[in-house]
Amino acid sequence: MKTKITELFGIEYPIQCGGMLWIATPELAAAISNTGAMGNLTSGNYDSAEDLRAAIQKTKHLTDKPFIVNITTMPSIRLPTHLLQDFFRICCEEKVSAIEIAGAPVDTFLGREFLPMAKDAGVKVLHKVGTVKHAVHAEKVGYDAVTIAGFEEGGFPHKDNISTMVLVPKAKEAVDLPILAAGGMADGRSLAAAIALGADGIMMATRFLATRESAVHPNIYQVLVEKTEADTVLQLQSLFAGFGLQIRALQNEIMEKVAEIEAAGGDLGELLPLISGERARQVWKDGNTEAAMLTIGQSVGRIHDIPTVAELVERMVTDAKEFLESGLQAFS
Ligand SMILES: Cc1cc2nc3c(=O)[nH]c(=O)nc-3n(C[C@H](O)[C@H](O)[C@H](O)COP(=O)(O)O)c2cc1C
Repeated sequence: MKTKITELFGIEYPIQCGGMLWIATPELAAAISNTGAMGNLTSGNYDSAEDLRAAIQKTKHLTDKPFIVNITTMPSIRLPTHLLQDFFRICCEEKVSAIEIAGAPVDTFLGREFLPMAKDAGVKVLHKVGTVKHAVHAEKVGYDAVTIAGFEEGGFPHKDNISTMVLVPKAKEAVDLPILAAGGMADGRSLAAAIALGADGIMMATRFLATRESAVHPNIYQVLVEKTEADTVLQLQSLFAGFGLQIRALQNEIMEKVAEIEAAGGDLGELLPLISGERARQVWKDGNTEAAMLTIGQSVGRIHDIPTVAELVERMVTDAKEFLESGLQAFS
């Protein structure tokens, strides 16, 4: 499957894993890259630049295929801006294939020197955005590709609440950069549809969480198979609206408490203990699915099994080709 994205990244299939805090490890990234898709190593898993460097080297040891490193550019107490700048530098020094920026643009958040630094190192930089306006900015300042993510997505959708179905063709009309469609992607049908909408590939995260190599607790796998598209909530608009964002997570006891605190006008001090990344880190391992904010997208409603990443990618590519070919036949 040759597209502008497979050409840009030197991968076989136009499928990329999105950043996933605590989940997108060297093992998962390498397993995905080894299938011919593109694995993701999420820098937020690490507390120091040298820990990230070690993780990049471990991933390179596990795969000789391209992988992408996610850097989430948002104000954070645990990951201050100077550490994110170091993460970016390390990616350039280690000459990873690509960097996925999620959040504020590199040029304004990290500094103007960073995109040229990546260009000099031969590292591609992709920006994950939730609006067409931000995709246009990415093209203007010199990113190599954009991911446009509809509000179906798990994690931090844009506050405008626009669906992938509308964003992808709008982005296609607005920019010449290669485009990945994200938010609600789960299978070969999604991949074929994204291509029909004008994308050059897809990014997905919830579906890769539901694979054996994500190595989460069996209770999490059970939730991923049993929950429907109606079982996620959009919350924390009070906290993230300033950044144009909100959170989509699994509806559970923690998110009910969060809703109560938000409705009562509670502040960060009250919310932080409930939504901390540390809680989620614990829950992915111990399986107490009511005890943390678990970022999961609406695509959870389309997940019915826990395959290996190799089974998933192979099935997706076979199905997508079939759907695209049968679509052409329907028009002939
Ligand atoms: C478990 C999980 C953790 C995530 N962590 C991050 C993160 O650390 N940084 C980030 O930019 N996006 C994160 N996301 C969002 C994804 O990268 C991606 O944008 C989104 O999940 C795509 O939509 P989908 O879930 O419908 O595939 C996370 C998503 C999931 C499911």
